[in-house]
Amino acid sequence: MGRKFVVGGNWKMNGDKKQIDEIVANLKNGPLDSNVEVVVGVPAIYLAYAKSILPDTIGVAAQNCWKVAKGAFTGEISPAMIKDVGAGWVILGHSERRTIFGEKDELVAEKVAHALESGLKVIACIGETLEEREANKTEEVVFRQTKALLPAIGNNWANVVLAYEPVWAIGTGKTATPQQAQDVHASLRKWLAANASADVADSVRIQYGGSVTAANAKELAACPDIDGFLVGGASLKPEFVNIVNATQ
Ligand code: PGA
Repeated sequence: MGRKFVVGGNWKMNGDKKQIDEIVANLKNGPLDSNVEVVVGVPAIYLAYAKSILPDTIGVAAQNCWKVAKGAFTGEISPAMIKDVGAGWVILGHSERRTIFGEKDELVAEKVAHALESGLKVIACIGETLEEREANKTEEVVFRQTKALLPAIGNNWANVVLAYEPVWAIGTGKTATPQQAQDVHASLRKWLAANASADVADSVRIQYGGSVTAANAKELAACPDIDGFLVGGASLKPEFVNIVNATQ
């Protein structure tokens, strides 16, 4: 075991310089548990700014990127650019990218492959919709989404964090119960043992995401297969510090 707890803040399309100053001041004030890895997912246009004011102990992630290094892709950013401004991570396959922007498993995998090749670390998101959960398809969906990533990740699992985010729990205030989250995390690990390797299953960190708050983080963090969180709304608030410190 020995998986380091990792908490990501996904700011989504929120914030301006003033609010970023406040969030960063709050993070600096902390105190943040030094045993926890912290990464903030910043809107692309503020990546360089956030990086310039954050302590080096906090990782910076883009929230998306394109699948090749450069070229005629108006409006896109590449992993090389993300690295160039000093950010080390990218969030890929978020359900908002999948549902609002129509990103399919195959495209997400191509992005993951190129981001990893370029030397970025990846938070790869998976998760079922409410309809899929109610049709008992949760495992089928998350296994399919993860399967698509296998060739893209290859033997680069050390640079990947999986984020299990049930779509029905994102931004809805409806958190998965610790048992619901733990069950999916445990079956993902079992699936990885069979389809990647026992070592990957044991070492990969799986975050839970979906309406995580300071009020529910401790109970979720106590689950054996939950190795961190991907936090949306609450990552903009002072309580993000308490979520980072949920294992204390
Ligand atoms: P939420 O978002 O915490 O606001 O539900 C989570 C996410 O989308 O990563």
